[in-house]
Amino acid sequence: MMEKIVCESYEEACCTAADFFAQQLKRKPDSVLGLATGSTPIGLYEEFVSRYQAGEMDFSRARAFNLDEYHPIEATHPQSYKTFMDEHLFSKVNFAQTRIPNGEAPDPNIECAKYSADLEAAGGLDMLLLGIGHNGHVGFNEPASSYPLEAYKVDLTGETLEANSRFFGENEIQPITALTMGIGQIFAAKHILLLICGASKVEITKKLFEGKLHTDIPACFLLLHPNVTLVIDRAANGG
Ligand code: PGA
Repeated sequence: MMEKIVCESYEEACCTAADFFAQQLKRKPDSVLGLATGSTPIGLYEEFVSRYQAGEMDFSRARAFNLDEYHPIEATHPQSYKTFMDEHLFSKVNFAQTRIPNGEAPDPNIECAKYSADLEAAGGLDMLLLGIGHNGHVGFNEPASSYPLEAYKVDLTGETLEANSRFFGENEIQPITALTMGIGQIFAAKHILLLICGASKVEITKKLFEGKLHTDIPACFLLLHPNVTLVIDRAANGG
């Protein structure tokens, strides 16, 4: 069952999503949280930081697992997801532990196996934040004819490369592959918080909810999950 909460603005959507995470941490301070990158979660992470500073959220016993990372990429590269998470969240709040797939790992398959083992050892995800790509990807699970259940190395689609090229400078090499959490690991999260914001997501949102399971839209798997909360702003919801 998917609960749907329509918010008036992006800011309201971020506050609403932050409320769910705050409640989760109150209920279970040692929660394992799945986190996402991209432009959508930036306002949510700002909420986390201000609530942490106000003493309203405490991450000191929580562990974070990020969905994905480019590969290969240096951790210190300005466009690595490691850099993104450090800048927006990890350097500003007090997580007990953070884990992002290692974009510097020499063997991506070994790194994916390690990441999967770490996630399993942590007991899986209590709450997972997801955004959605314009092509329906979740994490870096790109549209495909089959979807690995566990973490894997993926070839990014032309659409994703195009969407993310805006972040890379002219002389910077944009990675064309990435490491991502697998669909089975996403699906195993106890509670999924799907945050969709902005008018550019209207089309994919319509397709996602048109009442069919499109196999070329990875996010469609979420329609079968027993505990998903969709927080969407009016712009993405089509007004
Ligand atoms: P965005 O990315 O938040 O920057 O739109 C979402 C995604 O690609 O998953």
